[in-house]
This record gives sequence, C-alpha cells and structure tokens, in this order.
Amino acid sequence: MQVLGISGSLRRDSHNSALLRAAGQLVAAQGAEFEVFDGLKTIPPYDEDDDIGGGPPAVARLRGAIADADALLFATPEYNSSIPGVLKNAVDWASRPRAATVLQNKPVAVIGASTGAFGAVWAQADLRKVLGSTGARVADVEFALGHAHEHLDPDGRPTDPEQEEALRDSVAVLLGSLADVQWGPTGPAESAIA
Ligand code: FNR
Repeated sequence: MQVLGISGSLRRDSHNSALLRAAGQLVAAQGAEFEVFDGLKTIPPYDEDDDIGGGPPAVARLRGAIADADALLFATPEYNSSIPGVLKNAVDWASRPRAATVLQNKPVAVIGASTGAFGAVWAQADLRKVLGSTGARVADVEFALGHAHEHLDPDGRPTDPEQEEALRDSVAVLLGSLADVQWGPTGPAESAIA
C-alpha cells in the first residue's frame, strides 16, 4: 500500500513539510509505504488551453504520482485564511479531465500546521471541501497544530504526546479507510468503491 504525501508549503524549513515527514514515519510504522511529492513548485498555473493530452510534463508527473498512490496525505499551511495558491492550483490540475480525474474515489486526508493559534483549520476545511468536490474520498480526520514553531521537534514530530497520539490516530483513520476497499493490482477495484 502506497501513501503519497503532498505539502502545501514550498518553504525549505516548512513546518508542514516537516510534519508531513513525521506523519510519513507513522504511515511506515503502520505497514504502508510513504513518499513525498516534491514537484509542486514546477507545476504551472492552470490554463485550460494547456490542458491537452497528459498536460505539461510537471502536471503529468503529478497526475501519475496520484494515480500510483493508494491514498494521499496533505499537510497544508493557511494563507489568508485559506489554501495556499500553489496547492489549490495543483489540485485544480489533478481534478481534470473531470470524467477521468486521478482523484476520483482516491482516499485522502488533510492535516495542517500554522504559526498562529488555530493550526490552519480554515485552510484544511477549504481543502477538504475542494477535494470532496473533485470526487476524492475525504477521510474524517482533523489534525490542526497551532504555534507550530513551538510545538514541533526538529524532525517535525509534535512535542506534546497528546498531539503525537492525535497525529498517529489521523494516520490510522486514513489507512483504516483503505481497509474497506478491495485492492486490485493497481489500486481500488471499481466495484469496491461505488
Ligand atoms: C500566513 N500565515 C498564516 N497563519 C495562519 O494561521 N492563518 C493565516 O491566515 C495565515 N496567513 C498567511 C499568509 C501568508 C501569505 C503567509 C506567508 C503566512 C502564517 C503561516 O501559518 C506560517 O507562515 C507557517 O509557518 C506557514 O507554514 P509552513 O511554510 O511553515 O509550512
């Protein structure tokens, strides 16, 4: 089982990217493979005129990585109370073509961190809404880490044991949602996810 992590921050020392890597270790501890998508910055702004065939190379890579994954784990910052533009742009590309989007029925979960008090809750809520509208199966997960600069260790792990447990639970919910699905060689069988 393969989980693809996508961070909504391009920043080298991003709290969300660090948190995502720590979550990835929890994914691996629960027996699944974890990989982080590293191409967000290369994805061009969405332009329907460019959305022909597989799309621009960076987009084809994103779509391929999503198609190959059994589930997606997003970690998003909050910019002005919503989703960072680069992340929304990537989801917009992945959501097309509408009838054959790689997000259709894809199990996804959203977590997030911010340096403010609320842990990117609005960005997370918006991202869940957007992912739901693409046809992804959004897991019932909430993990919002406020004051991230104070509450993550250098490896991105929450320093508060309760928050670390909550992160582990979030990962377990995402992986548990996969247990309902019968897996074919390349992903969920259509009949299992009606
Ligand atoms: C922010 N930040 C922020 N934080 C928050 O809690 N709510 C918000 O609406 C915003 N808005 C916002 C806009 C922009 C343009 C920036 C650059 C930042 C602060 C944000 O939480 C902080 O920079 C995080 O550290 C960003 O996440 P990464 O890059 O550390 O993952």
